[in-house]
Amino acid sequence: CGIVGYIGQQDSKEVLLNGLEKLEYRGYDSAGIAVLNESGLNLFKVKGRIAALRESVDESIHATMGIGHTRWATHGEPSVNNAHPHQSTNGRFTLVHNGVIENYLDLKREYLQDVTFKSETDTEVIVQLIEKFYETTQSTLESFRQAMELLKGSYAIAMIDNEDRNTLYVSKNKSPLLVGLGEGFNVVASDAMATLKVTDQYLEIHDKEIVIVKRESVSIQQLDGTVLERTPYTALIDASDIEKGTYPHFMLKEIDEQPIVMRKIIKEYQNEDNELKLDEDIRAAMKACDRIYIIAAGTSYHAGLVGKSLIEKIAKIPVEVHVSSEFSYNMPLLSEKPLFIFISQSGETADSRTVLVKIKEMGYPALTITNVPGSTLSREADYTLHLHAGPEIAVASTKAYTAQIAVLAILAVDTAHAKGITLDFDLMQELAIVANAMDVLTAQKEELEQLTKDYLETTRNAFFIGRSLDYFVSLEGSLKLKEISYIQAEGFAGGELKHGTIALIEKGTPVIAVSTQENVNYSIRGNVQEVVARGANALIISMKGLEQDDDAFVIPTVHELLTPLATVIPLQIIAYYAALHRGADVDKPRNLAKSVTVE
Ligand code: G6P
Repeated sequence: CGIVGYIGQQDSKEVLLNGLEKLEYRGYDSAGIAVLNESGLNLFKVKGRIAALRESVDESIHATMGIGHTRWATHGEPSVNNAHPHQSTNGRFTLVHNGVIENYLDLKREYLQDVTFKSETDTEVIVQLIEKFYETTQSTLESFRQAMELLKGSYAIAMIDNEDRNTLYVSKNKSPLLVGLGEGFNVVASDAMATLKVTDQYLEIHDKEIVIVKRESVSIQQLDGTVLERTPYTALIDASDIEKGTYPHFMLKEIDEQPIVMRKIIKEYQNEDNELKLDEDIRAAMKACDRIYIIAAGTSYHAGLVGKSLIEKIAKIPVEVHVSSEFSYNMPLLSEKPLFIFISQSGETADSRTVLVKIKEMGYPALTITNVPGSTLSREADYTLHLHAGPEIAVASTKAYTAQIAVLAILAVDTAHAKGITLDFDLMQELAIVANAMDVLTAQKEELEQLTKDYLETTRNAFFIGRSLDYFVSLEGSLKLKEISYIQAEGFAGGELKHGTIALIEKGTPVIAVSTQENVNYSIRGNVQEVVARGANALIISMKGLEQDDDAFVIPTVHELLTPLATVIPLQIIAYYAALHRGADVDKPRNLAKSVTVE
């Protein structure tokens, strides 16, 4: 979910709706805004997208303050009733919330037995608590504070009191939240992207702080009322980076940006003498550890799998890769001197953050590799490596994946240098070759669209196979395809399909095989024969130098350890066209959110 708030001089509706559009990547199953003016509170809620909300809003209402929300359902189905903002029974308090209140049932039982609830959400408990406490405190701030003190779980909250047209009440714990500063106005948002149009000056808000936002001032307090001073920072994202331009979809734009991102990374991680440029402390941490634990989710996890191979082969440090949601509750036996690497495009994924909090409590060092340097995971880790990929808006991650792998390769090579390991290749030169290969691949859309038609047009399912690094790319290729086209797709290690899943192969079942590794070129082709013998329609993507006559698509030659950076591109493009041809919403696939800030 995402929240936004505005208090200022101009009409708030447009700032809120515009902000919500920019936050839609965080969830889009229902949305709402509440705006307050002299005649009272006006509430608009819909099931569905922000576009539908925009239609439902009464244009004639003018109000200079308001709050908004776009939802990714956790408690309660997507519906108008469960959409935010939520109001207390007497309608005086109205609130939006991103996160999950873990103890909402306890709070309901203990304080709100006599209240009739209008929704099934954990959020309504917060606003009802505030109304309840107001009965005794007769102070909105005090009631808000008392409620915040009781909440367990994650939240980013913005609240309006109908009786006060000068204040937004704001607080957060574990969920991201920023306050943006303007002349005569201030804004609140889950992400700076939502409000870049109106300001680039932001205040970080920390967990369990309460913020009183007025037109001319912002006051940050601790729960006990202590007032805090905080210096604003300038958000470095360019507002034009978050527009589609002439592209029909963000995903296609982001696929095409990959060669540019590769070159940007080469530039950012190199000094004038063409030596790798990395924080000395990171270098020291890499040298000091006896084992690396990579923690990530989704596509970032897939990048982590490639990263493991790179670090082990190049820097000779053992690496384990773990899905973050599993790690916290089933922790493996740790080595004596572990180093944790968190890979996260957004830097906000709650599952990963839970692990970070836990391992920091245990006293272990952490490095975050992220596209958002000011993000929670970046702030709370000891070190950060920036992806320099620019904002990624499409829910299906593309350029962040390739950026993650490139940065992991740089980290591996830098560590090898620091450890005195001699390498027989120049990484930056190899990455430049990759960038050129990416140029070639992104220009082959027509060919790839045709392959999509030939192999995937009507299929119900599809399998991806590969060995070694190609296996990891198969996992990512299948995730791309399934998440946006809804074709049931699975990635397998080439040798593994025959141990069970081959039972699903029928006449015409598409099997996409990736072959870029010399040592397994022969064996993966054997695996292709096994499925073809059972009727599969095999599409082989190989690399120049290893290709055979009937390969459907051949990528330019790149360094053997960096092939995922190239092979993933045709897989991304195939997924894009498969989704497009099926009429699916490419940038906003059903049920998903780009940044999942709940566990
Ligand atoms: C969500 C997104 C995925 C993403 C994953 C991890 O599930 O839909 O595309 O890979 O979160 O996100 P992160 O921001 O931590 O890389």
